[in-house]
Amino acid sequence: MTFFTNAPPTGTASSLGLTQHGRAGMQMLGAIQKFASSRMRPAARARFEGDEQGAALTETHRTGPQDRDAVRERVTRAQVVADADPVFRLERFLQRYVAEENFNRGIPAIEERRATFAAFIADSPAMEADRLHLDPDLTPPAYQARTEWHLEPGGWDGYDLYGPLFAFAVGPHVFRHGGYAAVSAGTDITQQRIDAVSQFPKDSYDHIYEPGCGGVSTFRALATVYPKARLTGCDLSPLLLRNGHMLAQRQGLDVTLKQREATETGEPDASVDGVMTYALHHELPPRENAALFREMFRILKPGGDIVLSDPPPFRAVDMFHAVILDWDTDHREEPFFTASCLSDWGEELEKAGFVDVEAYAIGADGYPWITRGRKPETA
Ligand SMILES: C[S@@+](CC[C@H](N)C(=O)[O-])C[C@H]1O[C@@H](n2cnc3c(N)ncnc32)[C@H](O)[C@@H]1O
Repeated sequence: MTFFTNAPPTGTASSLGLTQHGRAGMQMLGAIQKFASSRMRPAARARFEGDEQGAALTETHRTGPQDRDAVRERVTRAQVVADADPVFRLERFLQRYVAEENFNRGIPAIEERRATFAAFIADSPAMEADRLHLDPDLTPPAYQARTEWHLEPGGWDGYDLYGPLFAFAVGPHVFRHGGYAAVSAGTDITQQRIDAVSQFPKDSYDHIYEPGCGGVSTFRALATVYPKARLTGCDLSPLLLRNGHMLAQRQGLDVTLKQREATETGEPDASVDGVMTYALHHELPPRENAALFREMFRILKPGGDIVLSDPPPFRAVDMFHAVILDWDTDHREEPFFTASCLSDWGEELEKAGFVDVEAYAIGADGYPWITRGRKPETA
C-alpha cells in the first residue's frame, strides 16, 4: 500500500504538471475511486450487515474469540458472504481497475512530459555523498525483488520517473480522495502522516531514524513536528532514495538516506532516541518484522521511543472492513497484507524488549493504526 503525499512537493517548479490529456485520464480514475469507495462501498456494507450470515459474523467478530486462527477463519467466511453480493463485486472490480490504470494511464501521462521532468531532475543540486549512501552490492531479499508492489510494473525500482508519477499523477488526482487499501474515503493522507508522527510522547528528539523510509514524505512530517531533530533513514530502493535525496535538498530538509536492509542498518548501538515507521510492516514477512524490531531496539538509546504506523489488525475493525483489508493481499500485489493484519505488533515489540507498549487507532476504520513503546532505561 502506498501512502504518498497528496500534493506536489513544495520546492518544485510551477511549470511541472501533466498535459490536459494526461490529467483528464487521472482525474477520471480519481472520480471512479471516489464513487466506488464513498458510495458503492457503504451500500455493499449495508447489504453485508443486513444479510443473515453477514450479521452473525459481524456480531461474532465484535464479541467472539480474537485469537489469530478464529479471526482468520471468520475473515475467510465473511469474504465468501461478501463475494456473493454483486454490489461488493462491482466495487472491488472498480478498485482493481483503478489500481491497474494508475500505471497504465499514469506512466503515459508522465511520458508525455518526460522532457520537462527529466530537465527538472537534471537541474537538481549535485548529490551530497555524506547525505546519500548507496550500496550497489546490497542484494534485496527475494520477496522484495519479485513483488510488483501495488501492481506497479517492475516494483519500486521499475520506472525511472516514479517520483513524478506519484507527485503529479497518482497522488494529486487519485490518492487524494482516499478510499484505497486501509485509507478511508475522504481522509487526508498528508494530515494522517502529521498525526502519526505526533504520537511520539516527548516534545523534542535529537535523532529520529526511519527504516523503510522510501523517499522523504514522512521525514517532511517529522521535520514539521520536531524541527530540531536530526533525521536518518534507510530503504532498499536506490530509486526512491535518490528521489528522496533530491527533494530533501530542494526543500532544505536535514536528512541522511542510506541504502540498507532495515533489519541490518549498520547504525551504532544506542545511537538514536526515536524510531518512526510508516507503512512498512505490511510489506515485510512476519519473520523480518521480528528481526526489524530487534534491530530498532539495538540502535535506540535507553529511554528512546518507537512509533509504528501501519494498517490496523483485523480484530480492531468491523467484519466488513476486515474483508476489505484482506482483499488487498490477492488483488493489489501485497503479499503480506493478511499476515500483517493477523499480527499483533504490540506483542512483537514486547518480545523485542520494549515496555509501556500501547496500540490504538487515530483515524476512521482503524487507520492509521499506531503501536508505540519505549526501550527501558536499564536495557
Ligand atoms: C509503502 S512504502 C513506505 C515508505 C515510507 N515509509 C513512507 O512513509 O512513504 C514501504 C517502503 O519500505 C521499503 N522496504 C521494504 N522492505 C524493506 C527492508 N527489508 N529494508 C528496508 N526497506 C524496506 C520499500 O522499499 C518501500 O520504500
